[in-house]
Amino acid sequence: MTETLVPTAEAMAAPEKRLFIKTYGCQMNVYDSERMADVLRPLGYAVTDDVKAADFVILNTCHIREKAAEKIYSELGKLREMRDIRRETGRDLTIAVAGCVAQAEGEEIMRRQPAVDIVVGPQAYHQLPELLTRTARARGERIGADFAPDDKFDALPATRFTEGPTAFLTVQEGCDKFCTFCVVPYTRGAEWSRPLASVLEEARRLAGRGVREVTLLGQNVNAYDGERPDGKKATLAELAYALAAIPGLDRIRYTTSHPNDMADELIAAHGDLDALMPYLHLPVQAGSDRILRAMNRKHGRQKYFDLIDRIRTARPDIAIAGDFIVGFPGETDREFEDTLDLVRRVNYAGAFAFAYSPRPGTPAAGMSKQVEPEVAKERLHRLIALLTEQQTAFNLAQAGRTLNVLFDKPGRHGHRRQAIGRSPYLQSVHVDDADHLIGQIVPVEIVAGQQNSLMGRLSSQQKAA
Ligand code: SAH
Ligand code: SF4
Ligand code: F3S
Repeated sequence: MTETLVPTAEAMAAPEKRLFIKTYGCQMNVYDSERMADVLRPLGYAVTDDVKAADFVILNTCHIREKAAEKIYSELGKLREMRDIRRETGRDLTIAVAGCVAQAEGEEIMRRQPAVDIVVGPQAYHQLPELLTRTARARGERIGADFAPDDKFDALPATRFTEGPTAFLTVQEGCDKFCTFCVVPYTRGAEWSRPLASVLEEARRLAGRGVREVTLLGQNVNAYDGERPDGKKATLAELAYALAAIPGLDRIRYTTSHPNDMADELIAAHGDLDALMPYLHLPVQAGSDRILRAMNRKHGRQKYFDLIDRIRTARPDIAIAGDFIVGFPGETDREFEDTLDLVRRVNYAGAFAFAYSPRPGTPAAGMSKQVEPEVAKERLHRLIALLTEQQTAFNLAQAGRTLNVLFDKPGRHGHRRQAIGRSPYLQSVHVDDADHLIGQIVPVEIVAGQQNSLMGRLSSQQKAA
C-alpha cells in the first residue's frame, strides 16, 4: 500500500474541532487572539466560548504585573485536571500558552506545568499550525520566539472573521522606551511599524464588511513610522488621513500613545479630521519630576501640561485618559501628592491606576526603597477615588447633549430592544428601542450620565426607522 497525502473522505468529514482562547492583558492581545483564530480556522478549528467543549485551549497571557502572570499558573493547573479527566474517556486536550508570559518565561512554564504542549511568543502566531502538527507527534515541544513581526503579518491570512462595526487593527508593535518599571520592551521586542499599504489594505477589507470604527493599536502607536510605497516613512497623522478617505470608515481611534511622540502634525489632525475621535489615551504614570526621571519617562510634568494645552487648543472637547502607577520605588507622600495635583489640573475623562509591581529583569525591581504594599494600597485608593470622581463628572456633563452614537451590540434588556453604542468620547451609551440601529452612527439625546455609562433616548421617528 502506498501512502497518500490527499485527505481521505473520512478525514474531510471529520467533525469540527473546537478552539477556546482566553485573553489577558492589553488590546494588542485581543487583536492577536482574533488572528490566532483566523490562522487555525483553515485547520478545522471553530471558536467556542465554552472551555469544556474545547479540543484546543490557548491562554493568551500578559506579563505586565505579577498578579497577571501568576494567574496563568493556576489556570494551567485547572486545565491539566480537565485534560486528565478527558484522557480517561479517550478524548484529548491540547494546551498552549501564548502572549507575553510565554515570551518572558517560556522555559519556566514548561518546567512548572508539563501539561503545556505549546509555548508560543507574540511574533510566532503564524507558526501555530505547524506547531500544532508537530505537537501531535511529539508532545511537549517548545518553540523559541524570535522577533520578526514582519513575517507574522505577512503570513497571517488576509481575511479576518471579526464581527460587528468596530475593530482593532495592530499597526505597530514593540517598544524602545525602556521605562524602568516595564516588561514590554522585553516581551514584545523593538519598535516596529507595519507598512502603510498593508495597514490600509486590512482597513479596506474591514470597511468592506461593515466596520465603521477602527482602533489602531500599538504599544507606542503614535511613534508609528510604517514604510510608504515610495520608501519613505509615514507618520500616524498621515495614516489617519489615508484611513479617513476609505468609504465607510467614519471613526478612527488609536492607543496607546507616549507624550514624547505626540507630533504637532498629529495634534493638528485632531482639529482638522472629523473621523479622528475626540478621545486620547495619553499615559503620564506619575506627577513628580523626580519620579518621572526615575521611571525613565524622558519628560517632566510641565512638558505634559503644555502638551495637554496644545491638544485642547486644537480640539477643545477632547477627552483625555491616562495610566498611573503609585508606589514606584522611593515615592514619598509628597511626590504622590504631585500625582494627585497633576490629575486635578488635567481633569481626566477616564484612567487606569495601578500599584507598582516589581517585574523581574527591569531596572526598577532592583531599586532600593521599595514602597510598603500597605502604603501603595492606600495611595491607590485615594487616586482611584479622585479619578472616579472626574470620570463620573465627565459622564454627568453629557446629559442634555446630543451625541453621535455608533451602535455596536444588543443590550442586556432584550425585551426593551435595548442596544449599546459608543459616544465619540468612548463612553458606553445604553438606548432602548434601538436594536434595529446596530452598525449605524445615529445622533442620540443623552438623558443621564452615570459612573461608567450614559443613558440615551431616540426620537419616535428614529425608533420607527
Ligand atoms: N505602552 C503603554 C502602556 C503599556 S502597559 C504606555 O507607555 O503608556 C499599560 C500600563 O500598565 C502602563 O501604562 C502602566 O501604567 C502599567 N504598568 C506597566 N508596568 C507596570 C508595573 N511594573 N507595575 C504596575 N503597573 C505597570
Ligand atoms: Fe512600557 Fe514605557 Fe514602553 Fe509604555 S513606553 S510599553 S510603559 S516601556
Ligand atoms: Fe500585557 Fe504584553 Fe500587553 S505584557 S499589557 S499583554 S504587551
